[in-house]
Amino acid sequence: MLPFASLMARTADAVLNPLERIAAWRWERGLSRGRELPSKAEFLSAAADAAPPSGAVRRLQSHRGHAVPEAWLAELALHTEVVLKPSPLTWDHGRLLYLWLSELLSRIDLSSVSIVEVGTARGFSALCMAKAMQARNVEGRVLTLDVLPHRVPMLWNCIDDERGPSTRDNLLSPWETLVERYLMFFQGDSLRVLARLHLPRVHFAFIDGQHDEAHVREEFKWVAERQRRGDAVVFDDYNVESFPGVVRAVDAGLLRFGYDSEIVDIGLSRCLVHAVRR
Ligand SMILES: C[S@@+](CC[C@H](N)C(=O)[O-])C[C@H]1O[C@@H](n2cnc3c(N)ncnc32)[C@H](O)[C@@H]1O
Repeated sequence: MLPFASLMARTADAVLNPLERIAAWRWERGLSRGRELPSKAEFLSAAADAAPPSGAVRRLQSHRGHAVPEAWLAELALHTEVVLKPSPLTWDHGRLLYLWLSELLSRIDLSSVSIVEVGTARGFSALCMAKAMQARNVEGRVLTLDVLPHRVPMLWNCIDDERGPSTRDNLLSPWETLVERYLMFFQGDSLRVLARLHLPRVHFAFIDGQHDEAHVREEFKWVAERQRRGDAVVFDDYNVESFPGVVRAVDAGLLRFGYDSEIVDIGLSRCLVHAVRR
C-alpha cells in the first residue's frame, strides 16, 4: 500500500533540513521564553472554558449524522488542542473533519483511502480523521506534514509539558493503535514535502498549514491534480479579516479546479470550507 509514501515516511524523520530544525527550536523557545511552565491546572481551566459545539456544527450533526464520540474527542483535545492563548478554544474542526470524512467513506467503497493533511501541529485533526476511518473499519493512510519534527523532544504548549519536553510521537502514545494503523508523519515545508510525495490519488485532504496565498494556492493545486469526482478537500481559517490570502487562494481554486463548496461558520471569527470535486 502506498509504497512511495511509505519509503518517504521512513526517510523523512531521518533527514531534517537545518531550517526546519531552527523552526522547531524557535517554536519551543517562543513557548518557554521568560516564564515558568504553565501548570496542569491552567490547562484544565482552559479546557473547561472551551466553546461547546457551535450551532452550525450541531445542526449539521443532527441533519447528516456522523457525530464524533464526544468523550473521546474531549480526551484527545485535552492533550492536543488545549493550549494557553488569548482566543477561545474550540474543537469544532475535529467534529467537522470526522463528519465530512465519514460522509465520504459512507458513499464510496474503497479498499484503501488516501488522505493528506498540511499542518499536523500536535496531531489533533489527524487523529480525528483516523478515528473516522477506524469507525468504518476502512484501510488507508493519513499522510500528515508539518515543519515541526515528530521525534525531537520539545515543548508543545499543552498539558503534557508538565513532564518536560517530549516528542509528538510520545505525546500521541495514548492513541498508539490509531497512530500505528493510520498516520504517517512527514517533516518539512509543505511545498517541499508535497513535491516529493509520489501519491497518485488523494480522496480527502485538510489544508491547515501556512496561512498565506502562495502556500494555499499551491497546496490546493497539488491536491486537485490528484482528486476525482466526489473527492473532498477541507480548508481551515477561511476568514477575510485574518487570512485574506487563504480566502483568495481557496476562491480561485474552487473555480479553477471545479469544486462545489459549503462554508461552515463555527463562530469565533472562524470558518471552514468543505469542497467536493465535481
Ligand atoms: C493551525 S496549525 C495545524 C493544526 C492541526 N491541523 C490541527 O487542527 O490539529 C498549523 C501548523 O502548520 C505548520 N506549518 C506552518 N507553515 C508550514 C509550512 N510552510 N509547511 C508545513 N507546515 C507548516 C505549523 O508548524 C503548525 O503546526
